[in-house]
Amino acid sequence: MTTVADRSVPEVDAIRHHYEVSNDFYRLLLGPTMMYSGGYWEEGEGLTEALDEAQERKLDRFVELAGAAGSRRVLDVGCGWGTMLNRLTTVHGVEQAVGLTLSRTQEAFIAGLDNPRITTRVESWEDHTTDDPYDAAFCINALEHFVSSTLPPRERTKKYRVFFNKVGAALKPGGRFVLHTMTAEALPMNRQLLDDLKFLQRSEFENCHIPHLHELTQAAEGLFDVVEIVNERESFAVACRAWLKLLAARRDEAVALEGEEVVARFERYLDIFAYTLEDKFFNNFRVTIARR
Ligand SMILES: C[S@@+](CC[C@H](N)C(=O)[O-])C[C@H]1O[C@@H](n2cnc3c(N)ncnc32)[C@H](O)[C@@H]1O
Repeated sequence: MTTVADRSVPEVDAIRHHYEVSNDFYRLLLGPTMMYSGGYWEEGEGLTEALDEAQERKLDRFVELAGAAGSRRVLDVGCGWGTMLNRLTTVHGVEQAVGLTLSRTQEAFIAGLDNPRITTRVESWEDHTTDDPYDAAFCINALEHFVSSTLPPRERTKKYRVFFNKVGAALKPGGRFVLHTMTAEALPMNRQLLDDLKFLQRSEFENCHIPHLHELTQAAEGLFDVVEIVNERESFAVACRAWLKLLAARRDEAVALEGEEVVARFERYLDIFAYTLEDKFFNNFRVTIARR
């Protein structure tokens, strides 16, 4: 189902700049699980060898935290290539999984899964409404795109509150929401970091805002009860390193698909994310909250 597929607005175009690189390229970068977020590696496991297991382990843990197994209806905000939607409905007995994305190529990829229990909507979270509330919801490394860094701090908190209100309104009372999101620490800058953040902000993910944890907790207060907040910084850093390794191993193919400029952009941004997480400039929080 498509609702905003052909609407051209700057925020939508900024997302499509990154997420409408071809599915063949993303398959090469992300491997068969097509997850574009942190994974759970175990001690001693190989970066690329265990990539799929690490991602599936993460998904299964998220399903458990959300109490989503066997439920009727689940929402995934920023659903990527539909891996969570597919796992919910094929492994965890969920009847209906609804995914939101702004990427038309992701929608096409999910259609190719040919899973009648999945509904994909090319729709921003801001436009999503339902009169049939969800039992549980997820948002996995997508929130980083939802609020513009051009907004002043108070307006950002308001926008995050709009987001939590939206998810809360779509959930049944008591329904759990599991969120994975990068957050920023207030650490001293240096010139390299400033250059790299400028590249992220101006070129790759225009105006994206990596929030501070307090912006999120403040915005969710009174709407949700906090169940658990865990910093899983390494889960995302390791995933970035794994994708870089996969890309290096098949660089020529990637360049043939998308050209040198796109491949170099991805190499740069993935290395920036990896080192900023490793240096503890960014975090990756797993936040489990329950609708009041
Ligand atoms: C880093 S990907 C994560 C995808 C998936 N959750 C995963 O873990 O593989 C971010 C996703 O957020 C989606 N997205 C970005 N802005 C959005 C918005 N305003 N509304 C809905 N989805 C959005 C993108 O289309 C993309 O699918």
